[in-house]
Amino acid sequence: MKLTIDDVRSRFIKHFDGSTGSVYASPGRINLIGEHTDYNNGFVFPGAVEQGMIAEIKPNGTRIVDAYSIDLKDRAQFSLDDEKGPSASWARYIFGVCREMMALGVPVQGFNTAFSGDVPLGAGMSSSAALESVYAFALNDLWGENKIEKMELARVGQRTEHKYLGCNCGIMDQFASIHGKKGSLMRLDCRSGEFEYFPWNPKGYQLVLVNSCVKHELVGSPYNDRRLSCERVAEVIKRHHPEVDSLRDATYEMLEEVKNEVTSEDYSRAKYVIGEVVRVLTVCEALEKGDYDTVGEMMYQTHYGLSKEYEVSCEELDYLNDIAREEGVTGSRIMGGGFGGCTINLIPDELVAHFKEVVVKKFEEKFGKKPIVIDVVIGDGARKLC
Ligand code: GLA
Repeated sequence: MKLTIDDVRSRFIKHFDGSTGSVYASPGRINLIGEHTDYNNGFVFPGAVEQGMIAEIKPNGTRIVDAYSIDLKDRAQFSLDDEKGPSASWARYIFGVCREMMALGVPVQGFNTAFSGDVPLGAGMSSSAALESVYAFALNDLWGENKIEKMELARVGQRTEHKYLGCNCGIMDQFASIHGKKGSLMRLDCRSGEFEYFPWNPKGYQLVLVNSCVKHELVGSPYNDRRLSCERVAEVIKRHHPEVDSLRDATYEMLEEVKNEVTSEDYSRAKYVIGEVVRVLTVCEALEKGDYDTVGEMMYQTHYGLSKEYEVSCEELDYLNDIAREEGVTGSRIMGGGFGGCTINLIPDELVAHFKEVVVKKFEEKFGKKPIVIDVVIGDGARKLC
């Protein structure tokens, strides 16, 4: 069921003093292609989804933030002047955003807040970026006169992940949550910060997510190790090619040159990234020509790379990918950080109903639980609702 303002407002009224505040929303995201490229300064191709976080906020005249998570039925309080912050991780996201906004000079004051989300947790759809973004956007509106630019709001969320949660993520998720536009995907150059909206209106195809329900958790996961592998290889290549600052600038030839100077594991990780940077551009060109077969083929290649070279897949996700291929789905791959979560599937209209049925049946037969199928609707980015 779609989350509404009332779902949040009724809880806000119940858990605080009965008055109401301002309500904001910020979405989760999908990514058509370009996985683990953001922190390598490459390209990504995300879009915001309809599902997201809704938060009601009201200044309370103190230095205390009193926060209620409707979904977890948990409450946390922290002082804006505290250095350490709360221990519950959901509250640390809010704390981190407050502190980072304050560091930018926004005179944040204490507030009461309740929030809820309908982005499935751990599905690789960036529920955490939605949470960071809804507060970054709201605090900018309430105390920052909306002076902080959107890209900086995204960075506030990213820094929150780095400094308060320990996940050294790239910028894709927060970027998408803040900048999303109904009906459009966005191609972002993560080095320059330049981006373009691409209206997403594939004639004859639909995007469908299949959530393996294997919960992925990036905080404290091998995600940070992948990033380190990439940085190590870029460093070695740079010794031979000073113009190379990140894997975005590297080629397969350069990688071959340093093959004996890096571990075989780091080599495989870098090989995946170098290929993925090129695939995003191939997909953009193909989309301009309406060539969905090429888009799909690139998606399958990405899945292969994420599974065999980057090693962020799992049995359930590989099986979902196999089913997609067997059933004639145009493109399919792991979406997001990996280690669980969803596959994203580009499916010809006439196959959609059949695929949904078969994928649920086969997956359940093998793993004893049903995956969740989600139709992708590209929605708007962070905004004020009332
Ligand atoms: C997570 C991170 C992003 C990005 C993806 C993989 O979602 O938060 O920055 O690295 O994984 O593409």
